[in-house]
Amino acid sequence: MNLFPKTYGRTKGKIKKPSLLNYYKKINKYLIDSMSQYNKDIILEIGSGNGENIIKLSNLYKDKIIIACEVYIDGNSSLVKKLENKKIKNVKIFDKSCFYLFKKIKKFSIDQIWILFPDPWPKKRHNKRRLINENFINEIYSLLAKNGKVYIATDDKNYFLNILINFQKNDLFYWHNDNPNNWNTKFQDMPETSYYLKAMKIGQKPKFMIFKKKICLK
Ligand SMILES: C[S@@+](CC[C@H](N)C(=O)[O-])C[C@H]1O[C@@H](n2cnc3c(N)ncnc32)[C@H](O)[C@@H]1O
Repeated sequence: MNLFPKTYGRTKGKIKKPSLLNYYKKINKYLIDSMSQYNKDIILEIGSGNGENIIKLSNLYKDKIIIACEVYIDGNSSLVKKLENKKIKNVKIFDKSCFYLFKKIKKFSIDQIWILFPDPWPKKRHNKRRLINENFINEIYSLLAKNGKVYIATDDKNYFLNILINFQKNDLFYWHNDNPNNWNTKFQDMPETSYYLKAMKIGQKPKFMIFKKKICLK
């Protein structure tokens, strides 16, 4: 039985058998077992896809643990290849839904959460599958450290507004870049992820939001 909302589509794409076998051989050393072993600060990306942003973050923050949370095997496989080639040591992978990870992470231990192009589920009847809703925002609030930030990008106008409304409703975060010049500009240092490139190809203008944790006892 799935206890948590299913916010994702397929978990496997066109990955071929040799790559899949190689993936299963290599992934173990990157998988998270228990979070209690990490006393370093954490940066988490949810839905890390092929891992382009994870590689960037691991270079920018060498003294932090970067967690890639992704259920899509093809994406994780391509991240594992990058980690092996570049001999990166500060990245861990969680290959199940983020809601399971939330139960393992210590409160106030995450500095940044990145969510780039979360599945928009545009059909009205699928809207409830969207990852970012009030409940999700409450969960991440308690995991983020003081001054923790959430970075979100989307190219879906309806989801953009919906995310803003949900963050405003529960009043736990400031919208840090609430100025059109800023929310229309790609995050500094953000690489062109697969979904960023897809959006640009079809002429969609992605929106970029940064939310900063408020200090409040709620
Ligand atoms: C549209 S893709 C974006 C991938 C990547 N961030 C990019 O910009 O190219 C969204 C990803 O989020 C993942 N995802 C959705 N719900 C998730 C969840 N609850 N936990 C972990 N990953 C999730 C999906 O598997 C999918 O790969």
